[in-house]
This record gives sequence, structure tokens and C-alpha cells, in this order.
Amino acid sequence: MRVTIIGGTGLLGKALTREWTGDEVTSLGSRDVDIRSDSQVEDVVCRHRPEWIVLAAAYTDVDGCETNRDLAFDVNFRGAVRVARAAASQGTRLLFLSTDYVFDGRKTTPYETNDPLAPQSVYGESKARAEIGIREVLPDACILRTSWVFGVGGKCFPETILKLAASRKELEVVADQRGCPTYTIDLARTIVKLCRKEARGTVHATNHGECTWFDFARAIVGEGGLSAVVNPTTSDKFVRPAKRPAYSVLSSSSLTNYGLSLPTWQDALRRYLRKLRESS
Ligand SMILES: NC(=O)c1ccc[n+]([C@@H]2O[C@H](COP(=O)([O-])OP(=O)(O)OC[C@H]3O[C@@H](n4cnc5c(N)ncnc54)[C@H](OP(=O)(O)O)[C@@H]3O)[C@@H](O)[C@H]2O)c1
Repeated sequence: MRVTIIGGTGLLGKALTREWTGDEVTSLGSRDVDIRSDSQVEDVVCRHRPEWIVLAAAYTDVDGCETNRDLAFDVNFRGAVRVARAAASQGTRLLFLSTDYVFDGRKTTPYETNDPLAPQSVYGESKARAEIGIREVLPDACILRTSWVFGVGGKCFPETILKLAASRKELEVVADQRGCPTYTIDLARTIVKLCRKEARGTVHATNHGECTWFDFARAIVGEGGLSAVVNPTTSDKFVRPAKRPAYSVLSSSSLTNYGLSLPTWQDALRRYLRKLRESS
């Protein structure tokens, strides 16, 4: 199988590039292809003629998107639809990475793939618009929503917590946002399997289990062997430009339909910390 990863230099893209063996994989960063450019996107698709494109490229600075709305929509919405159009013209399958932030967070039970989109932030809105736009031009695309992604080789929540916990005695972390942490390596392996299974439609993929950011931080500090005390706080005391959903647990039933599941987030965290130690 010939595969092109767009966004191959990002946190997930790097793991995906490393994990995807046994196929002919081309991994591209924004220097190789800017998805805001018609000619660059068309050129890449015509040149590589992939059977699958995995689109992991996005402007992912959730707070930055609030002040850079045009950039958010140029990359995350128009750029993504541009890639879908190019894929459609070449008969190429597409797996597009989307996010739990397309939901409003008002539910108290896991979000199913067909729950209504109601993003609360510019980032979420740009990704929700992309999902709709991609469906229109490429009905058999696979839209893969994930959440709270962490891994070695890029900025992520565990890395921030480890740094803070190494220099402070106490940390405050919000305990009123609940979701599912997802390890890049587990997600990458799932993406490979989904493409090999010719997945289509919307699929949710996260590590198994759910927690608050506070729970996650406490586990990171504990498993990381640090002594900092993690205290719970609330989102109203930790105001950020973009509103985050209070609850964004994604149901795993769509993934179960493909006979797939991911390990627990606690297991993933231990493997991440081991890998981090090995790489330092
Ligand atoms: N991180 C999370 O918690 C999370 C949660 C849910 C969903 N997602 C989704 O998962 C995907 C991967 O996220 P990530 O955390 O791995 O992202 P990331 O680390 O921020 O990487 C973003 C990638 O997009 C590329 N990119 C940015 N602008 C581009 C443009 N105009 N043209 C082409 N490429 C461009 C970057 O290329 P360069 O580095 O070469 O500039 C980089 O490879 C995204 O679609 C994101 O929305 C992420």
C-alpha cells in the first residue's frame, strides 16, 4: 500500500511515521506541502499517487486559534477540504484527524460518533467545519476523532506537568474537565489498522478509560517518581482564551465495530514515561 502522511512532523505524525512499517510511506511536513496551497496539494497527490492519505496536519494551538481565526480556518477547514478534494480527484482514500473539541461538553455519558457537533472554540469550529466539508467531497473518508494526545517528541500535557513538578512543590490542575488521554504510539498503531481495514465513516479512538486533567497530572507525578503535590482547581480559576468542553469522553463503540481497542491510559502513561527516560 502507498501511504502519504501529511503532518508527519507533528506529535502524532512522527509516531505514525515510525510505527507504520510494511507499506510504502511518505511523510511530509509543512515545508514539503502547505495545505493552504492548491498547487502544492495537487502536486503532492499527483506525484505520490497514494492509496491512502492520513491528514494529521493542523493548526493545533487551541488558544492561538481564538486570536488567529483566519489562520485556523485556512489550515484546519479550507486546507483539510482542499486535501479531500485532491484525494477525491485521484481516487485516494483519506483518514482525517479530528477532535473531541467538536462537542460542547454538556453530555455526561460518552459521545457517540453521531452526536451533534457544537464546538465551543474557534479550533473546534474549524475542525467541525472540516468534517462537514470533507464528507461533502469525499463521502467515504474516515474521520477519526481523538483527544488529549500525548507522546515523546513534542509539546504535550505530561511533558509540561513533569517540568512543573520538577521545579515546584505544589501544582494546581483543573478537576472539572473530563476526557480520555491518548498515547501517540497507540493511536498510530490504530490508524494503521484502520487503513488496512478500509475504514470509512466517523470513528472515535482514545486510550481506554477516562479521567480529569487533575487525575492525569497526579498519575504523571506519581508514576514519574516526583514529590510535588497536585491540588485540584476549577476552570473558572484558570481562565484561558479558548473554552474547553467540561466532558469530552469519546465512546469506543465505533472502534469496537472494527474489532479494535486501545490499552488503558494508565498503561500508556507508564510506557510513555519509560520511553521518555530511554530517550533522555
Ligand atoms: N494534540 C492533541 O491533543 C489532539 C487532540 C485531538 C485531535 N488532534 C488532532 O490530531 C492531529 C495531529 O495533532 P498533533 O498534536 O500531532 O499536531 P502538531 O504536533 O501541532 O503537528 C501539526 C502538524 O501540522 C503541520 N502543519 C501545520 N500547518 C500546516 C500547513 N499549513 N500545511 C501543512 N502542514 C501543516 C505541522 O507541520 P510542521 O511541523 O512541519 O510545520 C505538523 O506536522 C491534528 O489534526 C489535531 O487537530 C490533536
